[in-house]
Amino acid sequence: MGSFKRLAVYSLLLSFIRISSTLSILTPTQPIRDGTNETLVSAGGTFEAGFFSISNSKSHYVGIWYKSISPRTVVWVANREEPLTDSSGVFQVNSDGLSIINSRGGRIWSSNLSKTIEKPVVQLLESGNLVVKDRQNLESILWQSFDHPGDTFLPGMKLGRNFKTGQSLALTSWKNLDDPSPGEFSMGIDTHGLPQLVVTKGGSTVYRAGSWNGLSFTGTPTLNYSYMKFVFVLNEEEVFYENEILNSSILMRSRLTPEGYPFRLTWSNQKTSWDTHYSSNMDECENYGLCGANTNCNPRGTKVCECLTGFTAKSQDSNGSFGGCGRTTQQVCNKGDRFQKYEGKKLPDTSSSWYDKTISLRECEKLCLSNCSCTAYANLNISGGGSGCLHWFDYIMDMRELPEGGQDFYLRLLAGSELNIISSFHMTLAFSSCFS
Ligand SMILES: *[C@@H]1O[C@H](CO)[C@@H](O)[C@H](O)[C@H]1NC(C)=O
Ligand SMILES: *[C@@H]1O[C@H](CO)[C@@H](O)[C@H](O)[C@H]1NC(C)=O
Ligand SMILES: *[C@@H]1O[C@H](CO)[C@@H](O)[C@H](O)[C@H]1NC(C)=O
Ligand SMILES: *[C@@H]1O[C@H](CO)[C@@H](O)[C@H](O)[C@H]1NC(C)=O
Ligand SMILES: *[C@@H]1O[C@H](CO)[C@@H](O)[C@H](O)[C@H]1NC(C)=O
Ligand SMILES: *[C@@H]1O[C@H](CO)[C@@H](O)[C@H](O)[C@H]1NC(C)=O
Ligand SMILES: *[C@@H]1O[C@H](CO)[C@@H](O)[C@H](O)[C@H]1NC(C)=O
Repeated sequence: MGSFKRLAVYSLLLSFIRISSTLSILTPTQPIRDGTNETLVSAGGTFEAGFFSISNSKSHYVGIWYKSISPRTVVWVANREEPLTDSSGVFQVNSDGLSIINSRGGRIWSSNLSKTIEKPVVQLLESGNLVVKDRQNLESILWQSFDHPGDTFLPGMKLGRNFKTGQSLALTSWKNLDDPSPGEFSMGIDTHGLPQLVVTKGGSTVYRAGSWNGLSFTGTPTLNYSYMKFVFVLNEEEVFYENEILNSSILMRSRLTPEGYPFRLTWSNQKTSWDTHYSSNMDECENYGLCGANTNCNPRGTKVCECLTGFTAKSQDSNGSFGGCGRTTQQVCNKGDRFQKYEGKKLPDTSSSWYDKTISLRECEKLCLSNCSCTAYANLNISGGGSGCLHWFDYIMDMRELPEGGQDFYLRLLAGSELNIISSFHMTLAFSSCFS
C-alpha cells in the first residue's frame, strides 16, 4: 500500500514536470530544445522565450514574445540571419555565453561575451529583456538582448549613442512580415547637429520624428499619457531615448515595420488586438524633404508644397513647389533684416544646426542676426514657457504643418526682399477683392 502511494506521488510529480515545460532560468545543464514545449518565462508571466517558426515556414528561430497574446507577437529574434531548417536546435548557455546549436553540433548564433562566466544563468525579465548573469553576482548583467535591438522598441529599452564607447542602439526592420532577417530600414538617433530620431534607408534619412523639444519629438503628437513616461537624455557622455510604462498591466511596444514606418501600439484586452497610437504614415508630408529646400509642406493646403516667405519655386507644377525654393532676391544680409514667425510647425531638420540650452529667445534672435548664414531660429525646449536656442544655417529642410501642436519658428527675411513681400501682399488684396 505504502509503496503504491509512493508510486502515485512519483508519477504525479513526473507528469507535473512534463506538463510544466516552462522554465524560470536556463543553466548549462538546463538548455531549451526545439521540438519540445520548453520555454523560458518571465517571473510575472508577461514574456516567453524559446523556439518558434513563422506561419508555415520551415525556418526555426529563437525569440521572445508575449506569453498571453495570440496570435504570437514576437518582439526579439536571436538568430535573425541564421534560421535553423529543422526542429533539432538547442538554445543553451555556457561559460562563454548564449548559443544556438544545430543538429550537426554547429554553433549558428552566439552572444559573444568578452569574458568567461563561471556559473552562468539566463533569465527573461518582466520587461522582455533576456539577460545573462553569473550566479555568483546576480547584480550585474553580462549580456542583455536590450543591447541588441531588433525591430521592436519596448519600455525600458534605449535608442541612442554613447559618445565615449561609440556604442549605438538602433532598430532594424524585418525583411518582410515572414522574415526577421534585417530589412532596408533603421531607426535611431542621428547625432549630427541637434540629435534627432530618424528612420534611414541605406544611410539616408527617409523619415524624421525630429529633435526633442522637452515634451516630445517635434514632428510627433505631444506625448501625454497618464501611464507612460518618456525620457530623452542629451549630455556629453550620451544621447538616448527611452520610455517607461507606469502601469504594468498595459502592454505597449513600438515597431519599425518592413516598409519603414514606426508604429506605437498598445494591447487592447477588449478587442484582443493591438491599437495604433501613432504611426508615421499619416500623409505625404511625412516623407523626408518631399518639397525640397526652403518650403513648408501642408497636406491639406491647396498646394502641398509652398515656398517660405522670401523664396521662389525653382520649378512649379500643379502640386506646388516640389524641387525646392531659392532666395527671391540676390540681396546680402544686413542689420535691417527681420524675422517672420511661423506657428504650429514641425521644426526643420537640425542635422546642421547649432544649439545652446541656456540662451533666451531674445538673445537667440540677436545672435542669429549677427551671423549672415543663420537663416532661422527657435526655442530649443518648449516645456515650461520655452528656453534655449536653436539656429539653422543656409537652407531649411523638411518643415511641415501639423494636425495638432507644433512649434513656433522664426525665419529670417532679408531687408532687401521687402519689395517681394509687398507685392505678394497686393496679390492677396487683389485676390480677396474678387470675392467682396
Ligand atoms: C506540446 O504542446 C502541444 C499543445 O499543447 C501538444 O499537442 C504537443 O503534444 C506537445 N509536445 C510535446 C513534445 O510535449
Ligand atoms: C558574434 O561574433 C561573430 C564573429 O565576430 C559575428 O559574426 C556574430 O554576428 C556575433 N554575434 C552577435 C550576436 O553579435
Ligand atoms: C496632459 O493631459 C492632461 C489631462 O488630459 C492635461 O491636464 C495636461 O495639461 C496635459 N499636458 C500637456 C503638457 O499637454
Ligand atoms: C492600469 O491599467 C488598467 C488597464 O487599462 C486599468 O484597469 C487600471 O485602472 C490602471 N491602473 C492605474 C493605477 O492607473
Ligand atoms: C501631384 O499630385 C498628384 C496627386 O497627389 C500626384 O499623382 C502627382 O504625381 C503629383 N505630381 C508631382 C509632380 O509630384
Ligand atoms: C556663423 O555660423 C556658422 C555656422 O555655425 C559658423 O561656421 C560661422 O563661424 C559663424 N560666423 C560668425 C561670424 O559668427
Ligand atoms: C525643458 O524645460 C523644462 C522647464 O524649464 C525643464 O524642466 C526641462 O528639464 C527642460 N528639458 C530639457 C531637455 O532641457
